[in-house]
Amino acid sequence: MSQRPLTIALSKGRILEETLPLLAQAGIELLEDPENSRKLIFETTRPDVRVIVIRATDVPPYVRYGAADVGVAGKDVLLEHGAEGIYEPLDLGIARCKLMVAALQDAPPVTGRIRVATKFVNVARRYFAGEGRQADVIKLYGAMELAPLMGLADRIVDIVDTGNTLRANGLEPTEEIADVSSRLIVNIASMKSRHAELSELIDHVAAAVSEA
Ligand code: ATP
Ligand code: PRP
Repeated sequence: MSQRPLTIALSKGRILEETLPLLAQAGIELLEDPENSRKLIFETTRPDVRVIVIRATDVPPYVRYGAADVGVAGKDVLLEHGAEGIYEPLDLGIARCKLMVAALQDAPPVTGRIRVATKFVNVARRYFAGEGRQADVIKLYGAMELAPLMGLADRIVDIVDTGNTLRANGLEPTEEIADVSSRLIVNIASMKSRHAELSELIDHVAAAVSEA
């Protein structure tokens, strides 16, 4: 019986860059370079495996609803958009960074309600509620660092790695919310119906991660 190729959802940029070597070690190589292609579906050296390339935030819904069997998503994305209905068997240890609160350098503490600009609105709401602090959270889609400079917000919640982006804009991290790395995620129904194939893939990728 021929069945649909096993479908792996990745996103362009650092996740693709850092995942491809792990897949290669697991015996899966793309036949074409996705970074130089407008295509969205890529064949691999394994005829039974294909890779789709989508936006980072679209990976969890593709996997959750079974349009992809497997995906790679940052923990930040999983925390923000939910990981319901998704099995998360492996921390790939790639695209490491932190979700942090940041403020203008030497900003005074905020008394009363705090205005927070971020694309991680659910993470920010949960964090400030957990701290017992009243927060108005403003959704932005990019350039969060600008918000405190322009007086739009007192704080931002964003990804921090080296801290260069914050420093370049006169900001500093103030609180750490979560450690982030990318996770291998798997559709729960696929994990049952294609158990042998998926266990083998997970084991091979896990071996590649431990050798990395
Ligand atoms: P999109 O392109 O859809 O807007 P994005 O900009 O979040 O998505 P990337 O910048 O490729 O996509 O980030 C993918 C993942 O890599 C993020 O979800 C996060 O987990 C991690 N990440 C983001 N920025 C950094 C960074 N500076 N250093 C290390 N890891 C990062
Ligand atoms: C990410 C993130 C931060 C920055 C943090 O942006 O959105 O702005 O990295 O990294 P740093 O602490 O090392 O400066 P990226 O460079 O990926 O661009 P993007 O905003 O287009 O995703």
